[in-house]
Amino acid sequence: MIQSHNEWDKVEEIIVGTGLYCYAPSLDTGLNMEFTNTSSPDGINNNPFYGNYPAKILQETEEDINKFVEELNKLKITVRRPEPPPMADFATPDWKCDRFFPYCPRDVLLVVGDRIIETPGPYRSRYFETISYRNLLAEYMDQGARWFSAPKPRLLDTIYDYTRNANGLKLNNDEPVFDAANVLRAGYDIFYQISDTGNEMGLKWLASMLGSEYTVHPISSDIYSSVHIDSTLCLLRPGLILANPERVKSLESLPKSLQSWKVIYAPDMVEYSYSEMEPISSKWLGMNLLMLAPDLAVVDAHQTPLIKLLEQNNINVLPLTLRHGRTLGGGFHCITLDVKRAGKLEKYF
Ligand code: ARG
Repeated sequence: MIQSHNEWDKVEEIIVGTGLYCYAPSLDTGLNMEFTNTSSPDGINNNPFYGNYPAKILQETEEDINKFVEELNKLKITVRRPEPPPMADFATPDWKCDRFFPYCPRDVLLVVGDRIIETPGPYRSRYFETISYRNLLAEYMDQGARWFSAPKPRLLDTIYDYTRNANGLKLNNDEPVFDAANVLRAGYDIFYQISDTGNEMGLKWLASMLGSEYTVHPISSDIYSSVHIDSTLCLLRPGLILANPERVKSLESLPKSLQSWKVIYAPDMVEYSYSEMEPISSKWLGMNLLMLAPDLAVVDAHQTPLIKLLEQNNINVLPLTLRHGRTLGGGFHCITLDVKRAGKLEKYF
């Protein structure tokens, strides 16, 4: 039975993504706008790189992920994997798109307790990405999980704002839109980052579906308005947060409840991007760590200052690498989805 209430309790079962089908879409307006940093509508459908990634990237990523899976197995953690995505282009009544790839289950599926939620993501190329997890979702439902899919967003051109809207965001608020990786869980309290990958209506929808038992707190886009929260804040264990020093400039910018926890600032990251290809993630992907238990983290092996800081805070580290993490846009938190953690639903604030 799936069950995961927070970011730190002991992991028992986890989904690990794959780099095998990595492909950069060309037709995804929202994605291109985010990553080509365009300021004109003409630039939007002009992704300089698209298509299959070089075979070397697939192979080396597979090697790195296999090593990670081996380590998880040694810890007696059950590992589940996605299935190959359909390789075809697709369409809705409103648009056509080519595909993204199932490397980051963290972005498209959200586990809250015994619920597994397909989130209403902002990118057209990822519209059908959960197909790679369909059989798993059905199996989990069979075991008693509650399987939900958010209302499919239309993702019309008008949801995107290449000049940034009044809130400074590239994502408008016409319908609920968010990626699961905009969310951090701490028992009855859920933190939701308002950003280019999560809007206010998305927060409202999530709060309405979780019900009054839970409180969904917004994290201000003043902290980080771009893609996902997990290179900005990590909830390490009850009472301890790792924060990105370039983004969390003052503790008052954090949601009130998080201000009651101790915040440690990540040291500057060791710059590492193995491929010649333009990375789609910043150097801060180095703090995209995965807690396997309140005293055990999987961390990018290059980040020795960060590893030292964690050890000083009584967290043991399993150092591993994802050589193409920045190119493919995912570290150890992104490429996983912890579906079973020990521990129960608790109030931490
Ligand atoms: N956009 C973040 C950065 O560049 C990386 C976040 C990746 N997270 C994820 N779940 N895919 O720092």
